[in-house]
Amino acid sequence: MGGGHQLDEHITIDVLAGDRDPEAERQELRRLLSDRPRQIPSHYFYDGTGSSLFDRITRLPEYYLTRTEAAILERNAARIVRRSGAHELVELGSGTSTKTRILLDAMAEAGTLQRYLPFDVSEPVVRDAIAALAARYPELGIHAVVGDFFLHLDQIPDRIQPGNRRLVLLIGSTIGNFEAPEATALIRRIAQTMQTGDSFLLGVDLVKDESVLHAAYNDTEGITARFNLNVLDVLNFRFGGDFSTCLFEHRAFYDRARERIEMRLVALRDQRVRLTGLDLELEIEAGEEILTEISCKYRREVVVDLLSAGGFELTDWLTDDDRLFGLALARRS
Ligand SMILES: C[S@@+](CC[C@H](N)C(=O)[O-])C[C@H]1O[C@@H](n2cnc3c(N)ncnc32)[C@H](O)[C@@H]1O
Repeated sequence: MGGGHQLDEHITIDVLAGDRDPEAERQELRRLLSDRPRQIPSHYFYDGTGSSLFDRITRLPEYYLTRTEAAILERNAARIVRRSGAHELVELGSGTSTKTRILLDAMAEAGTLQRYLPFDVSEPVVRDAIAALAARYPELGIHAVVGDFFLHLDQIPDRIQPGNRRLVLLIGSTIGNFEAPEATALIRRIAQTMQTGDSFLLGVDLVKDESVLHAAYNDTEGITARFNLNVLDVLNFRFGGDFSTCLFEHRAFYDRARERIEMRLVALRDQRVRLTGLDLELEIEAGEEILTEISCKYRREVVVDLLSAGGFELTDWLTDDDRLFGLALARRS
């Protein structure tokens, strides 16, 4: 894989994720699965099944995040577009690009929209997203990148015209999936891809009542549990594993001290798991837990610090009436 591919007159896709050194990836996973607590990086969630389960999660009654963020965007899209003066919309961790339409519509309405650049590690999701967007915006130039935040941000395509302003999005609480040092590193890398005068929109889930948080990650339909367990099937498929999903149970809890949700998979009995593609055998004891995701909850002051570490200045703090979710609009200073 690798290299740009023109899909039609308006759409190009660069697939860079395959550039990842497979041996380095295997080594990292071997180390994380053997560590205590054992860990599986959360980007493995997003195969085709994982992405459609995530899409279902976003529509669950308990999962307030997506609809609240969408409502904040609806309410403020015209203002965000006006303040940014952007011609190009870059979206990091774009997923299905669903909420993006709110901003694309507002940019089209303002007559400034020239190009959309989605960037995500999951190739099938990016391909589906751009097909859906092409049907809705037939004239829109789209240049998609299938890449990893930590390897490929420097390969985001150049502006169509040098003076074009960009609005860069990292929404959907994606930043919450990273520990503080990684989050800071990511914000700094993002800043390096931007020019003075560009704008950055960061979507964060806010610290709130624990029961609301707990319900959001423990839905009654069990979709989040299926999403969490699916990561074992992804490892089985990718690395010749024999994890049995029925021998594990979903667990999600709020860590009050660290202000974050942790998702884990709990082994229901002693078991031996082989991953031939990793040349790895694991002896897992009953009750042992594998950490699969963290979702950090933010306070406004922490967001301001995070942004300033990347050389950004907060210009607008946008939230809902219940202060569930926050969107920080910032400018590269
Ligand atoms: C929490 S989802 C948010 C999706 C979408 N922005 C939304 O708001 O619904 C995180 C997205 O980031 C992508 N992602 C996770 N880790 C990534 C990485 N290291 N590099 C690039 N994309 C990544 C995932 O594939 C997924 O689409």
